[in-house]
Order: sequence, then structure tokens, then C-alpha cells
Amino acid sequence: MATPTVRDRARAVQLRQQLHRANYAYYVLDEPILPDAVYDQLYRELTGLEQQFPQLLTLDSPTQRVGATPAARFTSVRHNIALHSLENAFNTEELQRWAERWQKLVSEQAEASYVCELKIDGSALALTYEQGVLIRAATRGDGVTGEDITQNVRTLHSVPLRLQTDEPPDILEVRGEAFMPLAEFNRLNLEREAEGENLFANPRNAAAGTLRQLNPQVVSQRRLQFFAYSAHFPAEAQLSHFTPTIPHSQWVVLERLEALGFLVNPHRQRCDSLAAVQVYFERWETERKNLPYLTDGVVVKLNDLALQSALGFTQKFPRWAIALKYPADEAPTVVKAITVNVGRTGAITPMAIMKPVRLAGTTVQRATLHNRDRIQELDIRVGDTVVVRKAGEIIPEVVRVLPELRPVGTEIYQLPERCPECGQPAIQPPDEAVMRCVNNSCPAILRGSLIHWASRDALDIRGLGEKVSSLLLETGLVHSVADLYRLEPNTLASLERLGPKSAQNLLSALADSKQQPWSRVLYGLGIRYVGSVNARILTTEFTSVEALAEANVSVLEAVFGIGVEIAQSVHEWFRIPANQSLIEQLQQVGLQFASAESNQSFAPAKPLAGKIFVLTGTLPALSRNDAKSLIEAQGGRITGSVSKKTHYVVVGDDPGSKLAKAEKLGITLLNEAQLQELLAAN
Ligand code: IVH
Repeated sequence: MATPTVRDRARAVQLRQQLHRANYAYYVLDEPILPDAVYDQLYRELTGLEQQFPQLLTLDSPTQRVGATPAARFTSVRHNIALHSLENAFNTEELQRWAERWQKLVSEQAEASYVCELKIDGSALALTYEQGVLIRAATRGDGVTGEDITQNVRTLHSVPLRLQTDEPPDILEVRGEAFMPLAEFNRLNLEREAEGENLFANPRNAAAGTLRQLNPQVVSQRRLQFFAYSAHFPAEAQLSHFTPTIPHSQWVVLERLEALGFLVNPHRQRCDSLAAVQVYFERWETERKNLPYLTDGVVVKLNDLALQSALGFTQKFPRWAIALKYPADEAPTVVKAITVNVGRTGAITPMAIMKPVRLAGTTVQRATLHNRDRIQELDIRVGDTVVVRKAGEIIPEVVRVLPELRPVGTEIYQLPERCPECGQPAIQPPDEAVMRCVNNSCPAILRGSLIHWASRDALDIRGLGEKVSSLLLETGLVHSVADLYRLEPNTLASLERLGPKSAQNLLSALADSKQQPWSRVLYGLGIRYVGSVNARILTTEFTSVEALAEANVSVLEAVFGIGVEIAQSVHEWFRIPANQSLIEQLQQVGLQFASAESNQSFAPAKPLAGKIFVLTGTLPALSRNDAKSLIEAQGGRITGSVSKKTHYVVVGDDPGSKLAKAEKLGITLLNEAQLQELLAAN
């Protein structure tokens, strides 16, 4: 390995500092100090140095934000200090009662000083800094155990990789909320719609889903942000190193976090009475609508940290804080039509199609009407003005009809007696509120099964969303999930509404999906009550489809975590001849119906399955063909050109324009040694 000179070392340190400063100014202070081109130039220089002298690479280097290789799964981590959630208050009386409760618990009349913070609607993160360097980022999980998502969190520019202090504490844990700004949420959903992918229901789900992406590249492309709101010192002894003055109040903690380089929400406020808290709450009820991110309430915390620790926690919540929530967003709009939606299980759900209305930060035009009983209760009619509500749920609902505004001549709405998609009579099972279509070849059920099969936690087939599924069914090319794997490239490419490029991508995504593990295949089959967690439990216990199909109800029920409903549903599903034939066909086309290793049910059969590589330039030791076969042996694929779908670009000497394109798209670059490392790691 080449040895860097003293100058190289000093230059690397300087570049890191300059890039850190520029990053902080841009992402935290929102006051850029370097033109993009200069930033890029410095960044490239640092990457060059680090590639030439890998020993110069540090964990906190700005180049390490996007460099990580995808994980096969996340490891769980136990939190040093549990992450509690907050008790909710929905009105002034509940807030008042909370204040009376904590006051009663302290002996002297404590001075009521609160810090009000906006409650950001995202995902809680716990960040551990050792000697000032970010070494771990974990999700909240159940509060005791979370998931290690360090590589993903590194890509968030508002999370410092190194604390801005010369005297960092040995260990510091910073907590806060990662969230997706509204503009990014809208951009992402538009992009997903164009690619035929499922849309995220709201920014919170989008943030949580993004943080749990196995590929940090994907995370870095979705611009998540992070607001820090608390600091914890797992070891009391470290406190003295922190700063000369130990923070004694939440207010100072927030200031300190800001000084350490974190983004802290600027709309915090100290309040010396509950009345002042109330004013803050009311002010933000309207003003929050102008913020570029979602807030669902205000977190009220006692400012005095000594008082906080004296009060401590109940089983679930801190006694020293409460979340004062805003009511779910409601808005009036007009019903343009009432339709019914037939889901993959045949459930027929009536939906109101409305004049588009802004609600909880997103535009909505469909709301669920649940079932026949609810329709009767509401007496909703086309032309009615209704109030719709969204409280972070996936689909908004109609809360009430405003009869005073009903136009003349409206008609009572009757749910159709037949499935609107296939015309077969709809059935109302005696123990259920919903109506169902029970025709297995109903196009709506088939479409739903295709979409479910392709969904992220199932076979994860990019490009097979609602539009493409409908197209394949309408053109008669596909009658079952198995038909997907018999699609001919030429036939598919000739479909006018698809186009040759998407056809090619779809075919390769389908080919990749054959590497997905048995647990995902089982989930993808869409057996009632078998969600992705149950699918994993079942495939760990039954390592082949034959074993699962043979199991009787009592054997199934004996599996820890599997209840009688699931057991019955699975058993019945395998007794249906059409399902047996589907399994046979899927086995023939090459899907996985057995575990490679029973405890690895979540990992793809081949470690690089689904990963797309591009090679450019001459590698020092490996020939192009060797590199290609090594990658392909682990399930990776080589393509000729760089696009945003590319996962890695392997760069040799004299690289072509592919390198510049990869850099522009932020794609992970590997030199030969790094490629070898990646191959060896698997
Ligand atoms: S304090 C023990 N402050 O709201 C104190 N939480 O149930 C716990 N949240 O998942 C958290 N903004 O992630 C606090 N300014 C803020 C917050 C906040 C959002 C989230 C938090 C937690 C949930 C509370």
C-alpha cells in the first residue's frame, strides 16, 4: 500500500474540515458558503486521496455519507437508555391535570417553567457519539431494542458525523426526529407514481420506510432531515468532560445541541405558565400549516432537568413531559362520485371521490366509506358536501355529511349487488361487515394479487405497479402470478403503453425476483392473515413448501406466534386445487420454495441478487471477464450504462464518462480492492 506524505495527510484533514463546514452551512444553517462546483472539486480531491491512501480514510469523513454497501438485513441493538414515548393530551383540561399531577409529586412548590417544542411527525432516532464521532444510529423499535441503521443515517446531512467541539464527551447519545420534508414527500410520490410503484401514505411512513431501506444509496437520494431534541450521557462520570458547565435545563440542552452542529427546531419557546403554553399551542395550530414539514402537536417539557429526574417515568411515559396534540385535520369538500374498490381479497370497499382538498399536508380526493352500514349511517349522496378527516392514516375517511348544503334532486346511494369488476354476485359473509367478490378469476382480485406479489416486502418487483398490472391483465398476457414468468420479451416490448425500456427492466426485475427467499414468496402468495412477520415465522419452522402444505391445523397452531385463525387459513389455502397448481407452476419457473438456511429467511439466496454493476476502465489485476463472472456468481448483474438504477460502478484506470455520470448520480464507486472486499464479505 502506498504511504501518504505529511502533506497528503494534512491536506486530507483540511479537506475534511472544509467540506464539513460547507455541509454544515448548507444543511444546518441554510446559508451556503461554497458554490456547488467548488464543493464538488474539494470532494473529488478528498475521494482521490482516500482512494490512493485508504489509511487516510476516517469514519467521519464527508465521503462516508454515501459510500456504504447495502446490508442484507439490520441487526438489533439494545438501547443503553430506553426510549419512552409521550402521554397525549387533547385539550386544556388534560394539560391542566398533567400539571397538577407533577406538581403534587414534588414537595416544594416548584416553579413552573416549560419548554414547548413542535412535535415533529417522523421517526425517533438514537445517535451514539464516541469521542465525538458518530458510531451508531438506531431506530426506536419497541423502546428497549431498535435496529442498527447507522449506514442509512450517515447519509442525512443534518446529522453531524463528528461533533463540533474540541472536547467531546467519551460517550453522548443524541435523540431526535428524522422526518421527510413535504416537498421531498411530494417529489418522491410523483416519481413513484411515474414508475408504477406504490405511493407512500404520508411523510411519516415515507421517512420510516426510507430509514429501513437496506440500500443506503436509496436513503441518500431521499432527502430526510433530523431535528435533535435531547442529549443523554449513558455514563454519569463523563459529564464533567462535556463542557465546563453541565446543562441544567432542557433549554440549554437544545442550545448545546445546536452548538455541537445539530439542526434544532427553531420554533421552540420557554413558557412560564400553562397559559403561555396554551398561547403557543394555539398559535402553532394555524402557523404549522405554513411549515415545510408536518407537526401533529406540541411537546411540553419541564425545563428544569433536576426536576425531570426527580419526577422520573411511569411504566410508559416520562412524568415531566406531555404531547399536546392537534385534532386530526378535517376539511369540507364535495362528493363527485361514489365508487367501489375491489381489493385483492375480494373485499368490496365503497369510496367517495371528491373535489381535491388539502389535508394534513397532502392533497386527497378519495375517502373510504368502509361498508354498507357506514353508508346508511351517513346517508351520503353524490353532490353532498362532506367533512373528511385524516389523522396520519393511509386513507382519509368521511366524518359527516352537511345536510344543509345538500343540493336538490340527490338520490340515496345503493351499493351494487354485483362485483363491479366481474359482474358476479357479491356475497356478504354473515360474520363480516364487508361485502366480497368470491370469483377467483375476477380481474380486480388478480390485479390485487399481482400488485401484492410485486410489493416491497414480497417479491419486490420494480415496475410492476397498478398501471402495468392492469395492462398485463387487460391484454390477456397474464392470468395468474405464474404467467408473469412466462412473458416473452418481444410480446412485452411491443406493448405500446409499456415501451421497450420498461419492458426490459420489468423482465430483469422478474428474473431477479426468482432469487428472493421462501419467506417472501410465501408472503407474496397473499394467504389471508399471513403478513410478512407470520411468513417469516412459518418459513423458519417449515423450511419447504411441502412441509408447510402437509402440516395440519394443530401442527401449525403449535408454532410459537401462530394463532388458530392463521393456522386454519394456511391449511385451507393449501387444500384448494387452484392454489396447488399455482405452487407447481411457480416452482417450475424457478421461484424459491425452500429456505437456503432456515435462519436466513430474510437474506436473498445470493448476496448480490438484484444488484446492478457497471464496469469502467481497466482493473489492475482482474480481467473484465473475471470481474463479471465473480459478480454474477453472487447474483449481481452487469449492465453497459450508468443510470439511477445502478448500485455500483467499478472503476479502473482510465475510466470513461461513466465515472462522471456515476459521481453525478451519487452511485457507490468501487476500486478493485473494494470490489474484492465486497465479494469476500459475502
Ligand atoms: S421528547 C421521553 N420531543 O414523538 C421523551 N419527542 O411519543 C420522548 N417527537 O416517538 C420524546 N418531536 O420521537 C420529544 N420535540 C420532541 C419531539 C418528539 C417528535 C416524537 C418522538 C416520539 C414521539 C412521542
